[in-house]
Amino acid sequence: MSDGGTRVLVTGATGFLGSALCPALRRLGAEVVALGSRDADLTDPTSLTRVGSGRFDRIYHLAAWTQAGDFCLRHPGEQWLINQQINTTVLRYWAERQPKAKLVSIGTSCAYAEGSAHREEEYLQGVPTESLYTYAMTKRMLQVGQESIRRQFGLEYLTVVPSTLYGPGYIVGAKQLHFIFDLAVKMLRSKDLGEPVVLWGDGTQRRELVHVADFVATLLDLEPQTRNEIVNIGAGSDFSLRECAEILADLVGIPSADIQWDLSRYVGAKVKRLDTAKIDALLPDRPRRNLRTGLSELVAWLRATGGHLGRRTAA
Ligand SMILES: NC(=O)c1ccc[n+]([C@@H]2O[C@H](COP(=O)([O-])OP(=O)(O)OC[C@H]3O[C@@H](n4cnc5c(N)ncnc54)[C@H](OP(=O)(O)O)[C@@H]3O)[C@@H](O)[C@H]2O)c1
Repeated sequence: MSDGGTRVLVTGATGFLGSALCPALRRLGAEVVALGSRDADLTDPTSLTRVGSGRFDRIYHLAAWTQAGDFCLRHPGEQWLINQQINTTVLRYWAERQPKAKLVSIGTSCAYAEGSAHREEEYLQGVPTESLYTYAMTKRMLQVGQESIRRQFGLEYLTVVPSTLYGPGYIVGAKQLHFIFDLAVKMLRSKDLGEPVVLWGDGTQRRELVHVADFVATLLDLEPQTRNEIVNIGAGSDFSLRECAEILADLVGIPSADIQWDLSRYVGAKVKRLDTAKIDALLPDRPRRNLRTGLSELVAWLRATGGHLGRRTAA
């Protein structure tokens, strides 16, 4: 596949996913205009008008204001105001200034109602998990916005819904980490600094994980094949937190018996797994790293960057 001659705009380019997507697009030959909040604060409705008047073939809309853990529980009002504004800025720019561009946006598995089968046709149905309600609803509203603009003006979009992404390159800073990074950081700090490993919940909550490089490769293969659709990009299999923790403990070199489980802490949904029938039919041979291989890349990256040393962990 080649993207030579195409012009692409990426919002959220400085984030975890954007940092993997932009180089991949450039490797395919695309000219990429990569934006973080310092380049264009999307809560300012005029921010994208400063990007210039050139035409884009695609807009990858990744920007969102969120973090993992209990962040969404503690910031629902701000999340509504900020994410609705970010999305409206992008939708208006697309509809009014870039109607030839295809908008590729990133949805969330949290938008699915608890207990649903997480099939694409259910994305806007039922009530999302209460603790992630606002974040989920802003993602649903983004989908409603795209579909409304398509209906009235005939523009093209694609919404992809990832399960939790992991891999090297995660920005380990002041943010609350997605559980898998939190686990890896705690294990490495235990190994290097002798800190106890205290994990949230009882370890039975189940999650699926998609390596960020696999997600990017899948997205780039999928994009030309689909329009005006929602497509889940899930792993097709899930793991309990306990299983993930045991693999990480083994990779880091600490006894898994040292892991303590804090039953009083927030654990989110018990099970989160996307239905993958649609992507399986579209891309049956998409890349899917074995979890242990992917986690060993993450551990090697944290060790190489010392990313685990400079931060306090979530417990
Ligand atoms: N990571 C996952 O597991 C996962 C799973 C499902 C869905 N998603 C979705 O995938 C997308 C990318 O996720 P990610 O993990 O890469 O997120 P991330 O690392 O938190 O990055 C967020 C990006 O959004 C930008 N941003 C935040 N507020 C902004 C504003 N006011 N104006 C302009 N840009 C702003 C950030 O810019 P600065 O760097 O300048 O702050 C950053 O580039 C998000 O839409 C997220 O909801 C992610």
